[in-house]
Formats: sequence, C-alpha cells, structure tokens
Amino acid sequence: MKKILLFADPGIDDSIAIIYALLNPEIEVVGIVSSYGNVDKKQATENVAYLLELANKTDIPIIGGTTRPFSGEIPTFYPEIHGPEGLGPIVPPENIAGELLNFTEIFNIIDQNPGLTIVDVGRNTSLATAVILSDDLSEKVKEFYIMGGAFLVPGNVTPYAEANFYGDPVASSLVFDSLKNITVIPLNVSNNSIVTKQHVATIQESTQNPLIDILDEVMDYYINAYKKLIPGLVGAPLHDVVTLSLLANPDMGRFIYRDVQIQQTGKTKGVSIADLRVKPEDTDKNVRIYLELDYPLFLEDFIRVMSTKIPTE
Ligand code: RIB
Ligand code: CA
Repeated sequence: MKKILLFADPGIDDSIAIIYALLNPEIEVVGIVSSYGNVDKKQATENVAYLLELANKTDIPIIGGTTRPFSGEIPTFYPEIHGPEGLGPIVPPENIAGELLNFTEIFNIIDQNPGLTIVDVGRNTSLATAVILSDDLSEKVKEFYIMGGAFLVPGNVTPYAEANFYGDPVASSLVFDSLKNITVIPLNVSNNSIVTKQHVATIQESTQNPLIDILDEVMDYYINAYKKLIPGLVGAPLHDVVTLSLLANPDMGRFIYRDVQIQQTGKTKGVSIADLRVKPEDTDKNVRIYLELDYPLFLEDFIRVMSTKIPTE
C-alpha cells in the first residue's frame, strides 16, 4: 500500500488520476494539493471537492496550493483541452466547495505519514514552495513522482517543452536541484498511455458508481480535443494516470537514472535535459526517468482499477 499526497491541477487527466487513485486498493490518498495549471486554482479546488464528494471521501483533506508561477506571470489555461471548468462538459454543482486547508497542512500530513510518496502531476510551483518552506523534505518523504518533461522527443505545449515544466520552469528546476528520490514520467512514456472510448465503454459496462458514471462525458471531450490536435489519433493520453499506474506497478516500464536539468528561458523554456548516452547508472544521485511503457500492461491495470466496485455501506 502506497500512501500518497497528490499535487494536481484538475483538468481532465488529473481528475481521472484522482479517480484512479481513489479506486486503487494499492493506493491511499492522504491529501490533495490543488493548484493553478490546466484551470485556475479555484476551479481546480472545486473539481477536487466534487470528485471527493462523488467518491464519498470528503474526509480527504484539500490543501490550497499556488495560483501562478514564480515568474509572477498570469498563467495560460487550457479550456480547449480540459473544458471550461476542467471536467469537459461537466460543471460541478454550486454547493460543492470543500474546505480548503492552509498550505502548512502539507507538513502536518508529512509528519503524520512516515514513508509517504508525493506525486506531482501539475505545474511544480506548489511542490517547489514546499521545498522552500522546509529544509528536510527529502529526508521526511520517501519518494517523489513527477509527471513532466520530454527527453529528446517533441514537446506538447511548445515544439520542445512539455506543459508542466513549461508552466513554471523555475519551480521545476528548483525541485530537481533540491530533492532526492525523484521518479519522472515524461511524454516519452505518457504519450503512449492512450485510452479510447471503447475502453471507457468496457469499464462502464463492468461497474457503476458515481465516479465512473461521469467517465464517458469527460473522456469524450478530451478525446475529441486530442483528435483536433493530432489528426488520426484514436483515444487520448492519460499523462497523470500513467504516473500513478507506474507508482503502483514500477515494473510496467523501462527507466534509467540520470541528472535532469530544466531550461529556464527563450525558445527552449521548459525543456528537460538529461545525458541519455549509455553509461553506468548512478542510482544514489540521479533521477529515475521512465523512457518506455508496457502499454498492454498499463491498459490492463487501468481497466481493472477503474472497474473496481466501491463497497456499499
Ligand atoms: O503535459 C501533460 C501534463 O500537462 C498533464 O499533467 C496535463 O494535466 C497537462 O496539464
Ligand atoms: Ca496535470
């Protein structure tokens, strides 16, 4: 069982990652930090609160993260991919707000949960803020899983950069320079985590619960958005879900250990760099970078977890 504190910016693939984590018996979510990214922080928070309500898990704390990158720039949001409210066509009911806890609650959660994994599937501003506010995060947290980057493959938000690192490259740099025990899941892997409407239908035929009932509407929006971006693509990549799936199934892909750097400015802003030449691994010092995914195993895991029946009380 992995206990996780999840940093997210839901967003469609973040939302499905939250659903996956809540349904996976191998994962216990001990808190969710909601921040700007795909949508603004307020919307991200409402979406987290809505999903926790659907899951009947309102006891999971929601912590207020950051509203913009360290540069102070007004962030760009992505309604064309994630929908105006971040959940495709779905608008969370107005009475859903959720109690938003102060950022410092992160440190209480870390203290109360030895062996904790932090998973960041959004811009890295909130995690970098936690790094700045603490001098022993790497000692207290067992491992960090980060969705971001693109190593010698095209980016998704620019020709060269992936969206999470591009969104706040100063924060991403700080995180990679400061923390040990980082596993990164870049586009090299996440672009291949394609889920289709047929997969969604299979899941919905095998189970019924409020979290899964919204899956077709949300995924239809996301798949149609990706079809416009990448003509001919059947389905859409679930970047944030595959990050959690690899956490639960570390052997489901191939990885190497390398130092990682993030470019800060100019045309290569947000670009992730590592020396990918064949050489001896330095597992003590370096970041674990996933470069390949066993797609059939991922699909099997995704469909199995999403088809999990919620025990009725
Ligand atoms: O590049 C993929 C990442 O950017 C994912 O975390 C997705 O949610 C988007 O924000
Ligand atoms: Ca995300």
